Amino acid sequence: MRIAVLGTGYVGLVSAACFAHAGQHVTCVDIDEAKISLLRRGKVPIYEQGLQDLIAEGRRHRRLHFVSHAAAAVSNADIVFIAVGTPTRASDGHADLSQVYTAVESVAPSLKAGTIVVTKSTVPVGTADLIEHLIRNICPELEFEVASNPEFLRAGRAVDDFLRPDRVVIGVESGFAAARLLTLYRSVGIENERILLTDRRSSELIKYAANGFLATKIGFINEVADLCEKVDARIGDVARGMGLDQRIGIRYLQPGPGFGGSCFPKDARALVKMGEDHEAPMRIMETVLASNDARKRSMARKIAAICGGTVRGKTIALLGLTFKADTDDMREAVSIPLAQALIDAGGILMAYDPVANGRAKALLPQCVRYCNSVAEAAEDADAVVVVTEWQQFAEIDFRTLRQRMRSPVIIDLRNFLNEKQVQRDGFKYFSIGGPRRQAFETMQPQTKSEKPLRTHDSKWVAADSLEEQIAAAE
Ligand code: UDX
Repeated sequence: MRIAVLGTGYVGLVSAACFAHAGQHVTCVDIDEAKISLLRRGKVPIYEQGLQDLIAEGRRHRRLHFVSHAAAAVSNADIVFIAVGTPTRASDGHADLSQVYTAVESVAPSLKAGTIVVTKSTVPVGTADLIEHLIRNICPELEFEVASNPEFLRAGRAVDDFLRPDRVVIGVESGFAAARLLTLYRSVGIENERILLTDRRSSELIKYAANGFLATKIGFINEVADLCEKVDARIGDVARGMGLDQRIGIRYLQPGPGFGGSCFPKDARALVKMGEDHEAPMRIMETVLASNDARKRSMARKIAAICGGTVRGKTIALLGLTFKADTDDMREAVSIPLAQALIDAGGILMAYDPVANGRAKALLPQCVRYCNSVAEAAEDADAVVVVTEWQQFAEIDFRTLRQRMRSPVIIDLRNFLNEKQVQRDGFKYFSIGGPRRQAFETMQPQTKSEKPLRTHDSKWVAADSLEEQIAAAE
C-alpha cells in the first residue's frame, strides 16, 4: 500500500518506519523543512531505540521517503495518517487541534478517491467527525473515509510497542476502512485477535481512558507510598502484594516522584476538559492531576527534611533530568519543578543526565550547573538525588563516589538502587515509601522457588524484588 504520514514526531516517525519495515511504501511529511532535510540525510532527530536502523532500512529499500510538501505525498496514498502534535492548549487545558486542522486542510485538495484519512494523534472524542466535515467542505465530491487509530507507544520503547502491541484499536464507520486497516496491520505481523474494531468515538476515548487510568494507578501507588512512610510499612511489598492480584497487576505500581511525559499529564487534562464540556465530570482524574502536581513539588521538601531541615547553602546533585529513563524527552519532567523548588529554597544545584543536559538548560533555572558525569555532579555534594531511573545509576561505584561527597547521602526518588549495596558502601540511603530492607532480618531467606510470580504471559518465574518482577513482566 502507499501510505502518507503527516508529522515526524516519535509517533509519526515510528509508525512510518514500522509500516515501511512491513513492506509498505511510506512517505513522511513535515512542514519543518530542517527536520525533513535531516531525515533525508539519514539523521534521526529523536532518541528512540531501534528507530535509526529501521529508518535506514526503509530508506535503503526505497520504501521510506521524507518530503515537506503534503500534496505529492498524499495524491496517491491509500491511507493518510495524521500524527501531528496535539499539545495542551495553554489558555484552557483543552487539546490544541490547530496542527491537525492545518494538516487536514493542506492535504484535502490532493486526496485521491477512496483514501482513508486516519487520526493517530491523540484527539478528543468527536475529532474524526469534525475532520470528515472539514474534508467534505473542501472536496464535496470526493469519496473518502476518516478513521481513528490511536497509538499506545511508550517513549523509549516506541518501536517495540508498535511492532508488539498489547492491542491495536481501530475506529471505523465502514467495513471498507476496516478491511484496509486490518490488512495494513496484518502486514506488520499483528493478527486479528489483537485488533479491536470499534466506532471512531469509542476509539478516540479508549486512548484517553487508558492513559487516564494508568496515570491514576501511578497516582494511587504514590499516595500509598506516602502512607507507608507514616505507618512504617514497605511500599515494595505493599505494591507486590497488590499486584499479585491479577485484577490489579504489578505494572505501573512503581512509586516515584510523580508522573510526567508528553502524554499522561496532557491526556489527563484533556479528559477532565471533555468531562466538563459534556457534563460528565472526571473528578477522579482531576484529583490525580492535583495530587501529581503537588507531589513533584513536595519532593523538594522531602530532600530538605533529609538534609537537616533545609537545603539552604547545601549542594544537591540531581541525577537524571528526563521524565523517565531511555528517552531525551523533558516534557513535564519532575526535575523541572523540583529544581525550581530547591533553588527557591537556597540550594546549590549540580545536574547530570546521560542524554538531556543540553535540552534541560532551556527548562531548568539558569543557576543550575550541568555536569558531564555522576562523579562531577557529586563533587562536594551534601546529597545525591536519583530523579530518573537511568540504568547507569545502578552501576555507580558508590564506594568511590562517597570519597567525593561532603556527606554520604543518597535520596532515591525511584526506589531504583540496591539499598543494601549502597548502605554497605557507607551511604545513608533514603527511598520512597518506607524502609526497603527486610523488616525481619532474621526471616529465613525464602528459596527463589518460594517467590513465584505469574508474569503477563502466565509463565511462573521466581523473582527477588519488585524491580525484577516488573522487569520480568515488561
Ligand atoms: C505513556 C503510555 O504508557 C503510553 O501508552 C502512551 O502512548 C503515551 O504515554 P510514556 O509517557 O512514554 O507512555 O511513558 P510511561 O513509561 O508510561 O511513563 C509515564 C510516566 O509515569 C513517567 O513519568 C514514569 O516515570 C511514570 N511511571 C510509570 C511511574 O511513576 N511509575 C510506574 O510504575 C510507571
